[in-house]
Amino acid sequence: MSPSPFQLRCALLVLAAVTRAAVASYDDIAGYTPVSDVVEHSELDLDMQELEEGADLQTDAGFAAAYTAYSVGGNSEKTDSIRTIQGFSTGAQEKLSGEKWFDVYEAYWGSTDYADQFTSGACNGTEQFDDASVETRAEGCVKGAQYQNVWMYVIHELEDAIEDCDIGNLNANDGGPHAWDEGWGFYAGSLEGTEGTGDGVMLYALAEKRCENFATCTADDDGSDITGTAQVNSDMLELYKEGQVYLLDGDCGAAGDVKDKIIDLMGVPLVQGMLRYFYNADPEAGDGGDKAAAELWAFSAAMLPRINECDEEVATLVRANTDIASADAPMSEGYVFLKEQLESVYSCMGISCSQVGGLVIGESTTYYDGFEPCGDSDSGLSQIALGFIIAAGAVVLAVGLGCFYRSRKNKEKMKAAMESDLGGFGASKSVGTL
Ligand SMILES: *[C@@H]1O[C@H](CO)[C@@H](O)[C@H](O)[C@H]1NC(C)=O
Repeated sequence: MSPSPFQLRCALLVLAAVTRAAVASYDDIAGYTPVSDVVEHSELDLDMQELEEGADLQTDAGFAAAYTAYSVGGNSEKTDSIRTIQGFSTGAQEKLSGEKWFDVYEAYWGSTDYADQFTSGACNGTEQFDDASVETRAEGCVKGAQYQNVWMYVIHELEDAIEDCDIGNLNANDGGPHAWDEGWGFYAGSLEGTEGTGDGVMLYALAEKRCENFATCTADDDGSDITGTAQVNSDMLELYKEGQVYLLDGDCGAAGDVKDKIIDLMGVPLVQGMLRYFYNADPEAGDGGDKAAAELWAFSAAMLPRINECDEEVATLVRANTDIASADAPMSEGYVFLKEQLESVYSCMGISCSQVGGLVIGESTTYYDGFEPCGDSDSGLSQIALGFIIAAGAVVLAVGLGCFYRSRKNKEKMKAAMESDLGGFGASKSVGTL
């Protein structure tokens, strides 16, 4: 006895609910299944890798190679040109103006190409990096590109996806979700591989590194929260998947809410970076030196406009203690005080103490003095993620039970009509395999 058409339809429905995102034929990027082709986009990280290799040499030739990787590129093709990390910033006036966070950053720095001024200046040893040491320039060149150029452009892609959805144009940019896919492609990059376990150089990689310093990894493989996937990346992946489903359904409002959560979450690794160098660059605490001071400024510059949007006094204080051009930098007011100041704007920035965690000593689980995680009343995102998982599970269960029920009724009807034993395709078995 073969399954009835109804039973087949049910089975397909259940399968579709379970594997919804798997319909596309594109390879996963760090666990995310794109519904459009973003392979070239994701390969922009190969330019970033070349940039980093050049800057790490800390020689004239190395910096020149870094600047070429940044401004000429070559690994990320567009239809009839080459995509560059520099272009994310120099093209921003035209493409990003009017977007909430870009406008905030532009207003704070007083220019639309603020990211390029920082990054080019560091790679070239010009502008604010005119008299800077090679250690300082190397940090500014790499981290400026990652946390200012790329960071803002990822946000732009998410805004773009919502805009395409709002105007009902799912085919703009090869489908509204295409811009969403691009966002993840730039966030993670190709070097992370299909599962996110590779050795990347984009924002995903930063989150992975910082979770080890702040005991905010997921404890996925070994029960340890200082190794494995970052909680931020795990939450981020769920949000990207959720948003993709909303966009495919044309639910722009729900997708917009997800976008805002992603943008908030993107602040967590940067704040962790700031805190790490609050400590390391503090002459009374860490090893100090040009490298730590430069890393401090690179992270701080990436978050300052956002901090300023919450509290101008906190931003002024942070800038005075972190800007390489400031007489009070690095950290003349000490890491304990600065940490407290930064924590005061967490809730305004949409992040929580538990997301940020605390700075641990080396590879231990012991926190530095005064660097325990601060306290907050709820853990925000992880609860939302959990709620989403429970809701998704409930939908699958409900569809499955519906099939079971309908199938049994059909079976009874047919049984009565045919007076025969149906056996075969057991309805209870199909529920059991869910
Ligand atoms: C960096 O160097 C390149 C190549 O010499 C030059 O074209 C560019 O204007 C420089 N930019 C800055 C900000 O120094």
